[in-house]
Amino acid sequence: MGEIYKIAGPLVIGENLNKPMINEIVKIGKKELFGEIIRIFKNRAMIQVYESTLGLRPGDKIIQTQEMFLVELGPGMIRNVFDGIQRPLKGDSVFLEPGFVSLSLDREKKWEFIPNSNLKEGDMINPGSVLGYVDETNTVKHKILVPPEVKGELVFLEKHGSYTIEKTIARIKTRQEIKQLKMYHRWPVRKPRPIISKTAPKKPLLTGLRVIDFLFPAAKGGTIAIPGGFGTGKTQLIFQLIKWSDADVLVYVGCGERGNEVITVLEEISRLRVKGELLDERTVYIINTSNMPVAARTSGIFSGITIAEYFRDQGKNVVILADSITRWAEAMREISNRIGDFPGEQGYPTYLASEIGNFFERAGNTINLSKEKGSITTIGTISLYGSDFSDPVCQAAMKVVSCMWALDPNLAYIRNYPAINKDLSYSKFIPYVKDYWDDKGSWSNYYNSLLQVFGKIKELKKLTSIMGKDMLSDEEKFLLDIDNLLTELFLKQSALIIEDSHRTPIEQLKIAELIITYYNRGIEALKKGILLEDISNKETFEKFMKLKTMRKNKYLKEIEKLLEDLVYIDVKK
Ligand SMILES: Nc1ncnc2c1ncn2[C@@H]1O[C@H](COP(=O)(O)OP(=O)(O)OP(=O)(O)O)[C@@H](O)[C@H]1O
Ligand SMILES: [Mg+2]
Repeated sequence: MGEIYKIAGPLVIGENLNKPMINEIVKIGKKELFGEIIRIFKNRAMIQVYESTLGLRPGDKIIQTQEMFLVELGPGMIRNVFDGIQRPLKGDSVFLEPGFVSLSLDREKKWEFIPNSNLKEGDMINPGSVLGYVDETNTVKHKILVPPEVKGELVFLEKHGSYTIEKTIARIKTRQEIKQLKMYHRWPVRKPRPIISKTAPKKPLLTGLRVIDFLFPAAKGGTIAIPGGFGTGKTQLIFQLIKWSDADVLVYVGCGERGNEVITVLEEISRLRVKGELLDERTVYIINTSNMPVAARTSGIFSGITIAEYFRDQGKNVVILADSITRWAEAMREISNRIGDFPGEQGYPTYLASEIGNFFERAGNTINLSKEKGSITTIGTISLYGSDFSDPVCQAAMKVVSCMWALDPNLAYIRNYPAINKDLSYSKFIPYVKDYWDDKGSWSNYYNSLLQVFGKIKELKKLTSIMGKDMLSDEEKFLLDIDNLLTELFLKQSALIIEDSHRTPIEQLKIAELIITYYNRGIEALKKGILLEDISNKETFEKFMKLKTMRKNKYLKEIEKLLEDLVYIDVKK
């Protein structure tokens, strides 16, 4: 047993430790505070403490656990709210009594275990083999797998029944011993869980937001950054994704947000239903508020990604949302400054980029140990000061992500939500999701047409900012009307207008078809001498705008009708 030599804020220097290891977890002082060894000197070690160090004294004992930081993986995570070191935050409070908690999952609760009927005693089983099933919620069917690194002969499989997670449900004779397997196991958060291989993305991760799905699509298994200044709508966008993205399991990591904001978020999410299902039933929450100790804020990200990997291993499509990566990076900076590390850019540690890389690189489409496919899509927000993309956190993320939705304070200011800036955003998933979209309709066609129209609008706006609008031709004036329609009916999609807050791929294709057809037919008609006011006027605009609050069936029917009416322009001559 070691003892405290010195205390410096969230750091403690311990001495007389027995063969300390880097990343070893220790219990400090009478309250057994949770700590992790981060530096080792000759006879001393530096420990970061995951809770307030107030009340600690030099000479207080330090107990070594000889283990790295592990999370518990098993039934009981969905709908649960944990802090960064996977301590359950029960009840209404997001604050915990300090102290070492080694049990993250409920030990009392019984789960109905259904053994895999294809297995029999004597079978040789491997990591990833399915031992049985537990319906954790209505949405999440948990598969109980043989953990990585365990293989051998199945000598016992528990029968169908309700058991706590501590019950031995299988025994496996490995080369060295008889292993008792339970419904849960533990895993070090820093170690990516093994897979067979990674594959290229294929399917879009649909969000219901046109500007994303249609123009800057996400793909399952991809990595996405959402940089934006204060109040540009990062958190709202994350909510939209929690609400609408077509994932099997979501892991929400709230990093360094204000405590009361987090409570509101949790309440809001826990009430949400989509297609009759409570969203809660597929979500795991990890919360580190800004008033929690700084070290705990650094670990939530890795606890989250490990939990995501665990569900991916079961063949699920998982989405992990980290809000915000910047607060995580700031926590790393605070620790590294206290340690006295040589600082990198803006005082961030020199290992910032590699840590951000380590997080995003655990995303991907995989062939799992069970030989099934699974995916983790990783999405992180980045808080920018102003719109400065040279921010080190943003730069580090941009090196590793394949898609960026850049939020623009100017768009947020005029309430053009989601405030995604088309010129700064990008998605490298277009070639991967093209087939999906073209199967649904002529997406490539409309996509290219939209890009062309956006390009023309940009040029024209540059021109009018110098010359004014008086000199514009009718075709150019019409283009500005189209710009207005595109903004209102396509790009803007407020979370507050329920009917429009989520649109299916078919609805997205239809509205794109309508606007592009209107534009093409309009230009044709103008060329044939039809007057601009006959093509584009207040009445037409209002007719189009009514679409915004229409529900699905009516929406599609009305678009068909409007499309039919557009022919009129052509034949009028
Ligand atoms: N998609 C949206 N639809 C409707 N309103 C929105 C949308 N996005 C943002 N808003 C409005 O903008 C406000 C700020 O958004 P939000 O909290 O998401 O910003 P943020 O970028 O997360 O801010 P911070 O930097 O403080 O974390 C919201 O409270 C809401 O009023
Ligand atoms: Mg926010």
